[in-house]
Amino acid sequence: MAPENGGEPVFLIFGKSGWIGGLVGELLKKGGYKFEYANARLEDRATIVSEIERVKPTHVLNAAGVTGRPNVDWCEDNKVATIRSNVIGCLNLADVTNQMGIHMTYYGTGCIFHYDEDFPEGSGKGFMESDKPNFTGSYYSFTKAIVESLLKEYPNVLTLRVRMPIVADLTYPRNFITKIIKYDKVVDIPNSMTVLPELLPYSIEMAKRKLTGIMNYTNPGAISHNEILQLYKEYIDPEFTWSNFTIEEQAKVIVAPRSNNLLDTKRIESEFPEILSIKDSLIKYVFEPNAKKKTEVLAAVKEMRGR
Ligand SMILES: NC(=O)c1ccc[n+]([C@@H]2O[C@H](COP(=O)([O-])OP(=O)(O)OC[C@H]3O[C@@H](n4cnc5c(N)ncnc54)[C@H](OP(=O)(O)O)[C@@H]3O)[C@@H](O)[C@H]2O)c1
Repeated sequence: MAPENGGEPVFLIFGKSGWIGGLVGELLKKGGYKFEYANARLEDRATIVSEIERVKPTHVLNAAGVTGRPNVDWCEDNKVATIRSNVIGCLNLADVTNQMGIHMTYYGTGCIFHYDEDFPEGSGKGFMESDKPNFTGSYYSFTKAIVESLLKEYPNVLTLRVRMPIVADLTYPRNFITKIIKYDKVVDIPNSMTVLPELLPYSIEMAKRKLTGIMNYTNPGAISHNEILQLYKEYIDPEFTWSNFTIEEQAKVIVAPRSNNLLDTKRIESEFPEILSIKDSLIKYVFEPNAKKKTEVLAAVKEMRGR
């Protein structure tokens, strides 16, 4: 691995214009770290190399990849573009950083698992880091499962399995809570989720610790759509109501199936024993801060929902 120049880490972030890339940059700035955003496209190996030679990072943070707009259904109709970024591009960066002796942290996804007869919903049995992906129902997840299984051979790479990321802003369109507040109908399935304000700082720390391999990067436990909406009702809007539908009914309004799962969190708990359960983290990082400015939040959410 590259020597730490005077012990001080230098980060190079891919995913400058992205949600997670943006948040990670803000965190590094706040923490007083040395960092730069990369401009190279992931599929352009030569530019990646020259950018790394210029910045000389000790750590690369890869938050780049296609996630689809307005959602992952985009990948169903743009398969080559998805392969170029999520498979070829991601492997390029892993390969270059490996050859140059630099640690890479990859913000990947845990949406590559689905409850089944061996991992039944509600059983409390979560998918381990060592489990093989069993959900490739969407093209997005298919590419992510392939790349994860190849990346795990790279000794310099830490793959973080992000799931249903959540931030405090209840009107931010990519926030999982915003999505379910906005939908006309929601399914009600317990899932593992990533509360970004709590977990993103851990990703910087994990990079500094030079952890490698796969990490289920979610808060411990699972929470269902209804449980989250109930918290919203309790903390923000006592008048809030919603309707549920089944997975079969949901399938009629989306193109590709979505994954629902519980990830085992023993590995992340062993690194960060203070990590909060998903419900406690949501209360601390989302609902309590929003409850302090309830009137303002309620007005913004109502405007966003149009009802
Ligand atoms: N948001 C979620 O719900 C979610 C859930 C689980 C996991 N994740 C994973 O977390 C990572 C970051 O997600 P995000 O939500 O921050 O994504 P995002 O907001 O869609 O941002 C993706 C970033 O990747 C860049 N990018 C895409 N293809 C690229 C390429 N070929 N070369 C260089 N840059 C490229 C984009 O830049 P341009 O716009 O310039 O292309 C953008 O800056 C992804 O791997 C995603 O799969 C996200």
